[in-house]
Amino acid sequence: MAGLKVLIVGGGIAGPALAHWLSRVAGAHITLVERAPQVRASGQQIDLRAQGVDMMRKMGIEPAVRAVVVHEPGAQLIDTKGKTKAFFPATKTGTGKQSITSEYEIMRGDLVRILYAVTENRSNVQHLYNTTIDSFTQDDESDPNGKVHVTFQDGRKDDFDLVVGADGAGSKTRKIMLGPDAPDPRRRHGGYIGYFSVLAKPWDSDRGTVCMLPGSRVSRAIGTRKDCKELTRVYMMTRGEIPAIDAAYKSGDLTQLKKAWADLYEGGGWECERFVHGLRNAPEADDFYCTPLEEVQLSPGSWTKGRVALIGDAAHCHTANGFGTTWGLIGAYILAGEIATLYAKDMASPTAAVVQGAKNYEERFRPIATVSHGSTQQFQSFMFPSSRFGIWCLYTLARAAAYLNLGQSYGEGGKTSKWKLPDYPVLEEDRNPSN
Ligand SMILES: Cc1cc2nc3c(=O)[nH]c(=O)nc-3n(C[C@H](O)[C@H](O)[C@H](O)COP(=O)(O)OP(=O)(O)OC[C@H]3O[C@@H](n4cnc5c(N)ncnc54)[C@H](O)[C@@H]3O)c2cc1C
Ligand SMILES: *[C@@H]1O[C@H](CO)[C@@H](O)[C@H](O)[C@H]1NC(C)=O
Ligand SMILES: *[C@@H]1O[C@H](CO)[C@@H](O)[C@H](O)[C@H]1NC(C)=O
Repeated sequence: MAGLKVLIVGGGIAGPALAHWLSRVAGAHITLVERAPQVRASGQQIDLRAQGVDMMRKMGIEPAVRAVVVHEPGAQLIDTKGKTKAFFPATKTGTGKQSITSEYEIMRGDLVRILYAVTENRSNVQHLYNTTIDSFTQDDESDPNGKVHVTFQDGRKDDFDLVVGADGAGSKTRKIMLGPDAPDPRRRHGGYIGYFSVLAKPWDSDRGTVCMLPGSRVSRAIGTRKDCKELTRVYMMTRGEIPAIDAAYKSGDLTQLKKAWADLYEGGGWECERFVHGLRNAPEADDFYCTPLEEVQLSPGSWTKGRVALIGDAAHCHTANGFGTTWGLIGAYILAGEIATLYAKDMASPTAAVVQGAKNYEERFRPIATVSHGSTQQFQSFMFPSSRFGIWCLYTLARAAAYLNLGQSYGEGGKTSKWKLPDYPVLEEDRNPSN
């Protein structure tokens, strides 16, 4: 038996999920590399929605997730005086249909740790931190004994039957796979999201809270969420051209980046003064994280190339649609399922199963994972209005939606809500039970 030797690049959400599924395939050996020196557990609240809830159950991690979920009673819109304009209660139905506040709100770091623990002690999964790839080449797709030849950053070389990029929106694996002349598939929508923590005050709401700030050339929203007693997490969202943030983001200088955000929100009303002061000065804000609003738009057929495939944000990132975690987990499962199904039929050489399985994965999952692609501009100009009239419209609509309970199926289009998670019998049984 030839075995199936896999390299997964990126230990975020999608990477460890894929390691779990592939580790059940007979003869599989998985190396998971993460650039950071240890589990990269930063990030704020993320959520599992729709089929992501079924996915979590299939992975057997529901008890672990439930043990750490954030109990958020719902989401509210407030005005700059702190007055509630609309409230969307959290879902508690367990059916998968989720409100703006999902029943499975979880801190990103907790989910990364849960996913890591699933394969932590499996003998056919190796976790390497402080490790990344430098380059790779691969043999022709038609070569039954072909491999991907990988050079790691430290100069080490190794061959794999399958290499998967789970290294996020800025994926290096994608860059190498597409080649030096390919255009960057990231589309910026103009605007950023930034998060950080401040010391909590007794009056900070335990609801997810959003406040639209009027009176600026660019759209600004600021909000809070609470997952623990001591800290309040602050979220900032902007739309439009913001040269100071663009420049600071490009420079990678965290101090400059914090200053650009603080300057933009100075004097914004509500609790801005306190938050901006924290952002500029307090150690709690050292967890500051900032990401542009962007979409990864790869042309059809280019999620994979031969024995190399992309999953999660590397394949289909859409920063603000709320489905990043859900689609990241599901894509990993589908890629593993498609390859494992074909490989089980002919274990003499993994090449054919890998190449065809990867193609099938894209064909099956792309229409679902990219359903909200391209719609961002309209969505965001509605969600983040900057004029006082725009803000008034938003409040009115939000109140109506809360009344009609539309919040209960947030973000689910007809196409995705009818879609069912595929079944892969081959993955149901652990074919490496000695682990
Ligand atoms: C630090 C961080 C904080 C985040 N915070 C939030 C948040 O608060 N809210 C939210 O909705 N989404 C957040 N996200 C995004 C969210 O995790 C993803 O949208 C989604 O879960 C899909 O996950 P993914 O595994 O595809 O990508 P990611 O979660 O981005 O994981 C990619 C992983 O790959 C690693 N990596 C990157 N490049 C390389 C390389 N060259 N070699 C090896 N490893 C590499 C990264 O360190 C990271 O661990 C955050 C992502 C990160 C990395
Ligand atoms: C893995 O093994 C180590 C050492 O025996 C143990 O401390 C750890 O809890 C185990 N992890 C899981 C997820 O079981
Ligand atoms: C990470 O690896 C590099 C060499 O590849 C080494 O110089 C550095 O000390 C390592 N860092 C940690 C935290 O292990």
